[in-house]
Amino acid sequence: MNHEKIEKNVGLLGILTAIVISIGGLVEIVPLYFTGMVTDPAPGVKPYSALEVEGRDIYVREGCYLCHSQMIRPLRAETERYGHYSLAGESVYDHPFQFGSKRTGPDLARVGGRYSDEWHRAHLNNPRDVVPESNMPGFPWLATNRIDAGGTAGKLRALRMVGVPYSDADIAGAREAVDGKTEQDALVAYLQGLGLASKTWKN
Ligand code: HEC
Repeated sequence: MNHEKIEKNVGLLGILTAIVISIGGLVEIVPLYFTGMVTDPAPGVKPYSALEVEGRDIYVREGCYLCHSQMIRPLRAETERYGHYSLAGESVYDHPFQFGSKRTGPDLARVGGRYSDEWHRAHLNNPRDVVPESNMPGFPWLATNRIDAGGTAGKLRALRMVGVPYSDADIAGAREAVDGKTEQDALVAYLQGLGLASKTWKN
């Protein structure tokens, strides 16, 4: 019988199992490429400003994602603490996305507007100045390092190639938008923008 042949032949069983699992995977994954909910920006979600793009690069460079997620799950404990759960449409301009997988510190997907700029500056220089029990490391060099303004237009151009709708004017004005700013200015601008769109949604 065919069934017996498959069960007694490990190689054949392995190949057929892989085929069946692949079909299951394709059925789940392929429709995502065609669903607007996943590919279109969620209401109010805008591309990052030039300064926010630089801030986001510093977030990546400093490894903030190793301790902070940006992904609120649709569970009551999470939405009570952080706000509306994360939507795929919030990440359409994120290349690469910063979902993260570890929460040594709190989720940051909704941190925009929660604190003042001054709070963030003090916190980044030395977290224990504002949160005495904090075990987050300080990042004091960000306050004095200047952004390399010459590279910003190229970053926006690269993002445009992967689908972020920057205009020629955005790209032409990129250098001026970040010129003379510190890395801390950029990172704070990025943090203050996180999750702002979600504040306009109904729960
Ligand atoms: C070693 C782990 C670790 C790293 C790396 C880290 N953090 Fe934190 N972060 C924490 C912890 C723990 C807290 C909670 C205590 C506090 O507020 O300082 C926190 C809190 C925060 C908060 C306040 C969040 C809130 O809702 O109260 C912000 C904003 C933040 N971190 C930003 C950053 C940024 C930006 C970076 C990268 C430059 C970073 N963190 C790197 C551990 C970390």
